[in-house]
Amino acid sequence: MKIIPMTAEACLKRLEPADAEEMFWLTDVNRPYLRQWLPWLDMVREVKDTARFIALTIDQHHRRQGTHYGIWYNGRLAGTLGVHSIDWANRKTSIGYWLGAQFQGKGLMTQAVAAYLDHLVFGEWDLERVAIQAATGNHKSRAIPERLGFRLEGVLRSNEFLYDHYVDHAVYGMLAAEWRSRTSADESGSGT
Ligand SMILES: CC(C)(COP(=O)(O)OP(=O)(O)OC[C@H]1O[C@@H](n2cnc3c(N)ncnc32)[C@H](O)[C@@H]1OP(=O)(O)O)[C@@H](O)C(=O)NCCC(=O)NCCS
Repeated sequence: MKIIPMTAEACLKRLEPADAEEMFWLTDVNRPYLRQWLPWLDMVREVKDTARFIALTIDQHHRRQGTHYGIWYNGRLAGTLGVHSIDWANRKTSIGYWLGAQFQGKGLMTQAVAAYLDHLVFGEWDLERVAIQAATGNHKSRAIPERLGFRLEGVLRSNEFLYDHYVDHAVYGMLAAEWRSRTSADESGSGT
């Protein structure tokens, strides 16, 4: 699925080579803010580094190992989300995401993750489980699975090295049946 609708102003579009320039500049202007929680900023110095990343995601898509999308808001790239890989034997995956600072606070990522789960993870791919991991101190990121009804399953200690220190990760999980019952409760108007 190349385009996934979200709202009147926003949609998800599969990353393609033509997005490299806009994605690089969005990364570059947000460098100090993104660097606080993401480990790869020092590897992205030029447009060609972003182009290489996009090429990897296209290869990943062709190998049926998951897909990365750009989040487009009023015609501008606001951020990205995607899965790290798909474990087909156990029918599970994990999601990663980021937004430019100027696009925060509108509910864009919460809506993007919900659309991604509906259309791909529990739709087209029909997986059993999805996880979201965030540094325990990354409250804005943790709020996304919490808002969507994921269950907090535990904390992995010193799970990621961020430039000069380790961070612990909170692990959130959602199962297919839980997502479907949540979605049908929302549709029948009984959800909160
Ligand atoms: C993590 C990150 C994507 C969260 O961004 P965000 O804007 O807080 O998340 P959302 O787009 O879902 O928006 C939620 C915010 O919009 C508000 N909002 C407005 N309308 C909303 C709606 N319809 N639905 C949900 N939230 C809405 C919420 O109240 C919340 O604001 P608050 O934090 O002031 O309470 C962003 O901070 C980021 O990219 N950080 C740097 C990279 C990073 O940490 N990535 C994750 C690594 S695990």
